[in-house]
Amino acid sequence: SDKIGIGLLGLGTVGSGIIHILEHHKKELMAKTGAADVDIRRVLVRDLEKQRDGHVNRDLYTTRAEEVLEDPNIDLVVEVMGGVEEARQYIEKALKNRKHIVTANKDLMALHGDELLALADRQNCELLYEASVAGGIPILRSLTEGLASDRITKMIGIVNGTTNYMLTKMTQEELSYDEALQQAQELGFAESDPTADVEGLDAARKMVILARLGFYASVQLDEVHLKGMTAVTAEDIAFGQQLGYTLKLIGLAERNEEGVEVSVEPVFIPDSHPLASVHDEYNAVYVYGEAVGETMFYGPGAGSLPTATAVVSDVVSVIRQIRLGTAKAEVNLSADEETVLKKDE
Ligand code: NDP
Ligand code: HSE
Repeated sequence: SDKIGIGLLGLGTVGSGIIHILEHHKKELMAKTGAADVDIRRVLVRDLEKQRDGHVNRDLYTTRAEEVLEDPNIDLVVEVMGGVEEARQYIEKALKNRKHIVTANKDLMALHGDELLALADRQNCELLYEASVAGGIPILRSLTEGLASDRITKMIGIVNGTTNYMLTKMTQEELSYDEALQQAQELGFAESDPTADVEGLDAARKMVILARLGFYASVQLDEVHLKGMTAVTAEDIAFGQQLGYTLKLIGLAERNEEGVEVSVEPVFIPDSHPLASVHDEYNAVYVYGEAVGETMFYGPGAGSLPTATAVVSDVVSVIRQIRLGTAKAEVNLSADEETVLKKDE
């Protein structure tokens, strides 16, 4: 068949946004993929009884990952369940079964990205992860494609939506730390365990991914100089405000003569600096290139639809590759193409 079969791992904040975009932007997606019909064929969840918004046929739900990973009618697995170990095993299994992967999982990509990308390469499959950094901002594609010709020297930014939301609410509405965190959780910005957000680990994972792509360098998570915002108080914020400064959790990745340095820490920014006006769950990343100079990318860094936009854009990209025949997808291969590929193996 000419339909692209998708298996979804997870149907929470991001998963439900994906369903929404696939339904509501069908016309755009058809136009941009050469009229490929996209079909959700199985959805892995933890709780079959949970009430969910959206229009997924309940018969598609399963708690058995094999039903997604081993289904010959699934060409592309979209991982939006989160966590590291299970997600890694599932993605490996899917790649071994020659399924393309789109994931929003920065925890996984920061820790195991190199080996998973190598496996995807060996399997001649796509593994795309645009949503893993800065939600709806197409920053990874900008680094790997838009700025591909330049030598990137530095990236500075706000890359965690939860902490930026918290700092905004603590600054502008004088919410307490706990109230602000609770709101960020209710809005679906925070991780299921928000420790990674507030301790800066989520931002560190994203900075590692940016540094690898921006500098073509091997950067590991334990090399990041990391300080989160757990010790930040309303008094600190108010003190900065009196002096004309706004507190932000800032990620920095810099290439210098000693190599690459990456850090995440709360920093007082002068109110006149554009990063001081990045509010709520919004993110912003400055990228400095030797030739281009300074560029700034800005947009929603977390939340259901913005994140899902990035995921579905990756899905579009995979479908285009399948259509072009540059990635192997059994769904679209004619017998002749199969023979050619087998000869190459
Ligand atoms: P949620 O917690 O809202 O959703 C997770 C989904 O995965 C749920 O449907 C859950 O099932 C399912 N799930 C989780 N673990 C398992 C498991 N072991 N077996 C089967 N199903 C499982 O998470 P989000 O949608 O917020 O996040 C998903 C991913 O996207 C994460 O990697 C996150 O870091 C990333 N991300 C999130 C963003 C956001 O703004 N929320 C932004 C960018 C990236 P059930 O519903 O039954 O509990
Ligand atoms: N918890 C993450 C954040 C989700 O708040 O930025 C987006 O990656």
